[in-house]
Amino acid sequence: EKITAVVPAAGVGSRMAADRPKQYLQIAGKTILEHTIDRLFCHPAIERVIIAISNNDPYFEALPLASDPRITRVDGGAERADSVFAGLAAIDDEDSWVLVHDAARPCLQLVDLDRLINAALQSESGAILAAPVRDTMKRGVVLAGDNLQGIRETVDRENLWHALTPQMFKVRQLRDSLRYALEKGAVITDEASALEFCGYVPQLVKGRADNLKVTQPEDLALAGFYLQQITK
Ligand code: C5P
Repeated sequence: EKITAVVPAAGVGSRMAADRPKQYLQIAGKTILEHTIDRLFCHPAIERVIIAISNNDPYFEALPLASDPRITRVDGGAERADSVFAGLAAIDDEDSWVLVHDAARPCLQLVDLDRLINAALQSESGAILAAPVRDTMKRGVVLAGDNLQGIRETVDRENLWHALTPQMFKVRQLRDSLRYALEKGAVITDEASALEFCGYVPQLVKGRADNLKVTQPEDLALAGFYLQQITK
């Protein structure tokens, strides 16, 4: 089975407070985006990667991967879901499979990627990598201003998961779901949310907790450490 990967990389990474979007920060001599793309091409079924890049992004064209024939650049959109939608538009075969992976997750392990792909290929409505919630979960309530919150309640963590990426679906199912969810103004923070909105039940595939999304400055050192541990 040949699989196309779509990598949304058009975010500004405001929580990182760096001089450039987080996917262009360096870890061990390479940008985060380059590590992420390398991890995807580790898998023999992934033969093409479509990257959604902001149209005023000066960094992408400077990378060697900009001239890699297996890579296609598309213009990203205002929200992550718009960027993914733009990436899907570059795929001709609606009956093929697409795997969406955050540019900011460079520590994806081949075992996880392989497990996800196998689960999705057997599924009705695709599958996502996810990690069971470890901590006790609290819902906050604003006490004063925006920042001061108290605890409203404890959220039952049974059956609660962190949604990670990659997330893998049939191209047509994801495209139609995203279109409908965006039209209806649903809150879409990952691909699975669009399918859920349409009543589908994508599968949860337990993934490694070290598949972190580099978000805050302190995540860089941690991602560097995890990358060092990866042998394949
Ligand atoms: O902001 P967040 O960390 O949730 O972003 C997840 C991924 O989505 C990042 O790789 C980011 O570059 C991408 N993104 C995008 N287009 C946007 C916003 C985010 O491709 N408009």
